[in-house]
Amino acid sequence: MKIFSIVGARPQFIKLAPLSAALAAGKHQEFIVHTGQHYDYAMSEKIFIDLGIRKPDIHLEVGAGNQTVQITEMMLKLEAAMLEKKPDLVIVFGDTNSTLAGALIAAKQNIPIVHIEAGLRSFNRTMPEEINRITTDHLAQYLFAPTQTAVNNLTKEGCADITYFTGDIMVDTMKDNLAIALEKSTIISDLGLQDTNFNLLTLHRHYNVDDAGIMEHILTQLGSLGEEIIFPVHPRTKKMLPASFTVPSHIRMIEPQGYLDFIALEHACKRIISDSGGIQKEAYILRKPCITLRSETEWVETVAEQWNLLINPADKEIASKIAAFKVPEVQHNVFGEHVTQKMVDIINNIK
Ligand code: UD1
Ligand code: UDP
Repeated sequence: MKIFSIVGARPQFIKLAPLSAALAAGKHQEFIVHTGQHYDYAMSEKIFIDLGIRKPDIHLEVGAGNQTVQITEMMLKLEAAMLEKKPDLVIVFGDTNSTLAGALIAAKQNIPIVHIEAGLRSFNRTMPEEINRITTDHLAQYLFAPTQTAVNNLTKEGCADITYFTGDIMVDTMKDNLAIALEKSTIISDLGLQDTNFNLLTLHRHYNVDDAGIMEHILTQLGSLGEEIIFPVHPRTKKMLPASFTVPSHIRMIEPQGYLDFIALEHACKRIISDSGGIQKEAYILRKPCITLRSETEWVETVAEQWNLLINPADKEIASKIAAFKVPEVQHNVFGEHVTQKMVDIINNIK
């Protein structure tokens, strides 16, 4: 089969890596299609290099823009690429604007769609991601669900017959790369963190960073924790951080990191504070206490297991709640294993 794997944002490259490697070992002809949604070296090329993903076969270079402009431009360019190459199958990942654009154009051209990370719901329709994932799930023919909750959501929406409980592919990316990261990465010594009990922070959700008041509140609260915090700053967050605001001195802002350096930081830190989807999972996999600065999450298993604490970003007691958070000893295997192989087996059986 001729397959289009459509990606555009950092977490999608990380989900693509093990799948693309497995597809390359098989009989399919895969085209990696990069929409260009993320384009900084640190957000895109560096992740490809770290994970050994070959350069995209098709790069649409769409770049930033308001959602309508961005999705429309992606659709126009994806339509042309699909008309030219005529893929037999389109694979989309997660819930970004690149996911939605890929799914819409494939559906219009009657090309079957695999949706990786199907069935997640925050039940918060103010998130662009919630709109993207619901629409994509209802356009796709093969729904690869990462968790039992995702399977349940899809069943309730009438999609049980096309749902496959594969587990989460980011488990395989982590498994394939953690030892390499621990051997190769020098980030811990570069930042002088060898004997430091540091926290790792990321923020990029629109409701946390597009409102300067909320972002300043979060950073002020985290400053009052009085502990070292390493903060790789997402470009959206960097853009929105007011020049007039003095970031508390315990918070060390650094550039977005490559995947290997970032998982080395995750592995070494004391706890993780984030609003990222993927990082909540990685915290759980690496047995790190996770504080999620959101009112809800799609990864409800990590909260039920008490390894992830949700805190409303507007909460006045963020710091004291973080300091008091303790995790249990026990974990269950909520994200599965041998995920890529399960996905490839299903793809190989598509006629
Ligand atoms: C996007 C996804 C989000 C995902 C996140 C991963 C959507 C709706 N959102 O959010 O689900 O969690 O990626 O990181 O698709 N920018 C740069 N350089 C880059 C990329 C972005 O400067 O390489 C800046 C631009 O000003 C851009 C802004 O960041 O306008 C936001 O980027 P965008 O891709 O629209 O959304 P994210 O917040 O990254
Ligand atoms: N990540 C990275 N460098 C960083 C921050 C995150 O490589 O500086 C990785 C992280 O390990 C995880 C993924 O990016 O695999 C999460 O992506 P992000 O938080 O951008 O998006 P989300 O998962 O929320 O959609």
